[in-house]
Amino acid sequence: ARRERPVVAIDGPAGAGKSTMAAHLARRFGFLNLETGAMYRALALKAIDNDLDFADADEMLQLATRTTIKLEPQLEGNRVLLDGVDVSRRVRDGDVTAAASKISVHPPIRVWMVDQQRALGNSGGVVMEGRDIGTVVFPDAEVKIFLDAAPEVRGNRRYKQTGSDDAKVTEESLVKELKERDERDRNRADSPLKPADDAVILDSTGLTLEQVLEKAETIVREHLATA
Ligand code: DC
Repeated sequence: ARRERPVVAIDGPAGAGKSTMAAHLARRFGFLNLETGAMYRALALKAIDNDLDFADADEMLQLATRTTIKLEPQLEGNRVLLDGVDVSRRVRDGDVTAAASKISVHPPIRVWMVDQQRALGNSGGVVMEGRDIGTVVFPDAEVKIFLDAAPEVRGNRRYKQTGSDDAKVTEESLVKELKERDERDRNRADSPLKPADDAVILDSTGLTLEQVLEKAETIVREHLATA
C-alpha cells in the first residue's frame, strides 16, 4: 500500500547541514524529523561506558540486543534516550563521534539499526536523515535529497557552530576529523555513503543556509503537488 504521507530521505557526509535541513522541512510540512546518526551515537556511547571493543562486531551486536534507543523528535533536533536516559548532549562529544563512525561499519549493527528505522518511518510523514536512508532504509522514499559540500566548508561551518570552548579543537582538526569520517563512511563495504540513483543532489558549497533550505523546500513542495 502506498503511504499517505511521504518519507523524505536526506543523506550526505558529516557536517553538510542535514540536521538543520531535516528540522526545517519537518517544521514546514508538519513531519517528524529523525536523526538516525543519533542511534549509532547512542550505541557507541554505551560501548564506551562498558569499555567494549568497537572493532568486535559480535560484541557490538550483543550489546545492541540488550539496548533500547529512542529518538524523540523536537523542533530543533532529536532528544536521544539510551535505555531511558537522556544522552542528547553527551552523544555529540568527540569520543562518541569517533566511536559511532567505527561501530557503523559492522553489517549486523546496521541491520539492527535499519529494522528500527524502517519501523519508525514506515507510515510516512517523516524526514529521516543519515547516510543510507535513500539507498537502504527507504529505497522507495518519495523524496530523496543528497546534501553535499566541500570538506573545508563543512569544517568551517562546524567550527563556527561549535564555537570551540575547547582550545584543542581547531578548524584544521575539525576538517581532518570530517575527512576521516567521510572516508570511512564512503568506503565501508556495507551501505557506503553514496547518493541513490534517484536522489536530488544539492551541493551547498557556494550557497547560503537560506538558499539551501529554500531549494529543499521546493523539492518537497513539488513532490507534494504531484503526489
Ligand atoms: O550523522 P551523524 O554524524 O550523527 O552520524 C554518526 C555516525 O553514524 C557517522 O559516523 C556515520 C554513522 N551513520 C551511518 O552509518 N548511517 C546512518 N544512517 C547515520 C549515521
